[in-house]
Amino acid sequence: MTGTPAELLPLMEVRDLVKYFPVRGGMLQRTVGQVRAVDGVSFAIHRGETLGLVGESGCGKTTVGRLLLRLIEPTSGTIRFDGFDVTTLEGTALKPYRRRVQIIFQDPFSSLDPRAPIGESIGDGLRIHGIGSPAERQDRVRKMMDKVGLATYQYRRYPHEFSGGQRQRIGIARALVLEPELLVCDEPVSALDVSIQAQVLNLLKELQGELRLTYVFIAHNMGVVEHISDRVAVMYLGRIAEVADRRDIFRDPQHPYTQALMSAIPIPDVTMRRRRVILTGDVPSPLNPPSGCRFHPRCPLRAQLGDPEICATTQPELIERTPTATAGHVAACHFAGAATADPPRPAGFAAATPGAAGGSADRADPGQNAGPI
Ligand SMILES: Nc1ncnc2c1ncn2[C@@H]1O[C@H](COP(=O)(O)OP(=O)(O)OP(=O)(O)O)[C@@H](O)[C@H]1O
Ligand code: SF4
Ligand SMILES: [Mg+2]
Repeated sequence: MTGTPAELLPLMEVRDLVKYFPVRGGMLQRTVGQVRAVDGVSFAIHRGETLGLVGESGCGKTTVGRLLLRLIEPTSGTIRFDGFDVTTLEGTALKPYRRRVQIIFQDPFSSLDPRAPIGESIGDGLRIHGIGSPAERQDRVRKMMDKVGLATYQYRRYPHEFSGGQRQRIGIARALVLEPELLVCDEPVSALDVSIQAQVLNLLKELQGELRLTYVFIAHNMGVVEHISDRVAVMYLGRIAEVADRRDIFRDPQHPYTQALMSAIPIPDVTMRRRRVILTGDVPSPLNPPSGCRFHPRCPLRAQLGDPEICATTQPELIERTPTATAGHVAACHFAGAATADPPRPAGFAAATPGAAGGSADRADPGQNAGPI
């Protein structure tokens, strides 16, 4: 029997990944609870693709990213990379993996040594991994600076001498100098001006083609992932709510939470507006997540359907749900697809159906970005 050729296997495969952070209290600092930051997450990342990972603040996106890099230990679950189980690698066995998987952060400044010239910071990884002579390392750093759009004469400059966009380019150079295969981009443009965001996104796209990179792109709104992702995974309170090809998720979002996120994407055409779904209630605490479907206390679809019991008692599986779903379009909702997202319509056009119970609202200002939903 022959196995599947390596290039056809997903580059990364995550199964039932769980990360609980202990909460300690009292004089003896005993564990008094667990923050269920990531609570049973499974997905695959194919070679050369960009998987967008999107969800509200605190839903566990960064924790997933840090788990993928093995910067933190999973509580349980498995991470396979290029066909190998890397979940329990330790010490020197972990080093080659760390070279193949890198991360860039929202705030690259915090990961740069303010007293080191940026050329040295970019070359840190090469030095740590013992790659090349000092002269060869300098050469590789200069080439990478050039690739990301930094002038090589800036090698000896310090982080505070750069703008936010340039610092992100430093962060990208620092991650890519080791020639990784997978790059986790944790909200890399969230702190940048809109015009600079586009430049950095374009740079990431160019580099992906040139260096044959695979990306996990973390963001908190659908608008950003729309432009860069091939597939999108939506997270809610430590679990995945929906995964689909970018086109399918934007054309036919099946989970009510995805529909709410989509409704917050601004429409560039001011003559069009979209029904904005305003979710009521606070995001529940990951210390004590709701029973059954975690979204049930805030779900407009459940309210619309008359509060079916199953939502509060049975956790929905992440599976293909409706006959219209294309292969690989999976949603964790017992009633997925029962209500469809309201398509954009001309301003002044009266909605034929009332808004979803639990709080839908028309917005007159489609240009406003996704805030809390
Ligand atoms: N080291 C830690 N110790 C305890 N709790 C943690 C730790 N790191 C994260 N958490 C908690 O885990 C949950 C998920 O956090 P995480 O940073 O992964 O969310 P996120 O989706 O990246 O949010 P944001 O969009 O704000 O960056 C949060 O409730 C957070 O407070
Ligand atoms: S399972 Fe129920 S509560 Fe959960 S998303 Fe679907 S309708 Fe809403
Ligand atoms: Mg985060």
